[in-house]
Amino acid sequence: MAKIAMLGSGFIGRFYADSLIGQRSRDTIVSIYSRREESAKKFAVDYKCTHWTTDMEEAINHPEVDMVCISLPNNLHEAAVLACCKAKKAVMCTKPLGRNAEEAKRMMEAVEKAGIFNGYLEDLCYTPKFLKALKSVQEGALGRILWAKSRETHPGPHSEWFWDIEQAGGGCILDLGCHCVEISRNFIGKDIKPIEVMCWADTQVKPIDAEDHAIGLVKYENGAIGQFEVSWTFRGGLDLRDEVMGSEGTIWLNSFLRTGFDMFTTGKGGDYVAEKAESNTGWLFPVGDELNELGYNHMFADMFNAVESGRAPRETFYDGYVVNAVLDAAYRSAKSKLWEPVKLDVWRGQEGVQKQKTLTDYDEQYYLIKEEMTHFGTAKLILKDKKTGQIIEKIV
Ligand SMILES: NC(=O)c1ccc[n+]([C@@H]2O[C@H](COP(=O)([O-])OP(=O)(O)OC[C@H]3O[C@@H](n4cnc5c(N)ncnc54)[C@H](O)[C@@H]3O)[C@@H](O)[C@H]2O)c1
Repeated sequence: MAKIAMLGSGFIGRFYADSLIGQRSRDTIVSIYSRREESAKKFAVDYKCTHWTTDMEEAINHPEVDMVCISLPNNLHEAAVLACCKAKKAVMCTKPLGRNAEEAKRMMEAVEKAGIFNGYLEDLCYTPKFLKALKSVQEGALGRILWAKSRETHPGPHSEWFWDIEQAGGGCILDLGCHCVEISRNFIGKDIKPIEVMCWADTQVKPIDAEDHAIGLVKYENGAIGQFEVSWTFRGGLDLRDEVMGSEGTIWLNSFLRTGFDMFTTGKGGDYVAEKAESNTGWLFPVGDELNELGYNHMFADMFNAVESGRAPRETFYDGYVVNAVLDAAYRSAKSKLWEPVKLDVWRGQEGVQKQKTLTDYDEQYYLIKEEMTHFGTAKLILKDKKTGQIIEKIV
């Protein structure tokens, strides 16, 4: 049974709280820290917290607290993590871990030195659809993973600090690309090294210094390619989609828009449809249970089960650091217009992985290129002679 201090009572703090104490949970939020007294008090009433404060360290050091959940703007993650290290309290931090890899590395090293539990709250790697898809991939249903694409686009975040490059650390590449990179990394294999990144980014719509739209490719050491598509200028709600292509199969995941719940209304009734929905009239795409479909429930279950059994959770500060390092390379590439290396001072996965074998034997003489049943009832084989390189067609 965890006793939690929540740092931040805003958008994600409340989503987390709904998940943490919803559905008859055993866990409780005992202390809430917020910048403004009225928000802290309101959160305390809404979530029945016995203690509220506008002093971050007071929440962390509260004697009953054994787990801290960081839901603060990006520029405040590091100070909060360091305060948890000082108090030797277990810590979970929302995404992105740092504003860049340097910051993330300092946080990772601090928690590891302090010997405290550390969880990276990457909810989109815990959605029920993602977990099932990942299991299929890990069991080999898709064969060799060749390409893993993830897209998160929406009309832009809700608080002022996101739009300030200093506080946020970047634009949509950092804010949304962190999800996409970790999703692709999971599908390709977290022990496979991301080696270089090519990225296009631009500020197409918003009057900001950061990018509001970007597309990037992440090359992995085994030859697989990751792809992210991110935007703060997309109109039409929150678009969350993943695509995985393997030598033996394909997965398409649609996590938010048009997932099988379509509703029409002339506009009489409640205003809230789903996160970042842009309209409440006409044809709408509500979401049944956002906490579950966005992965929060499975994420916290993993975090607390990990604490209780003394293991690491599926997503740790180390993963947050790797993601930041990939995104740093994306920012460099957007400027240089070149493939930029991913600089990982700390790498705990495999080293020197070779590009995987691509040739399929048909028999001693031929490689198989393709096998197909035609609409006129003939089974065809396309083969390549191993010695001469000649490509032939065979009817079977
Ligand atoms: N799916 C996700 O995992 C997800 C979704 C949204 C946000 N986030 C992350 O959560 C963190 C917080 O984002 P949010 O959307 O909840 O922001 P928010 O603006 O809604 O809330 C920020 C909270 O931090 C507190 N705060 C303390 N000092 C502050 C300061 N100097 N300036 C602004 N706020 C201050 C505010 O009181 C507020 O309670 C960010 O790191 C963001 O990237 C994650």
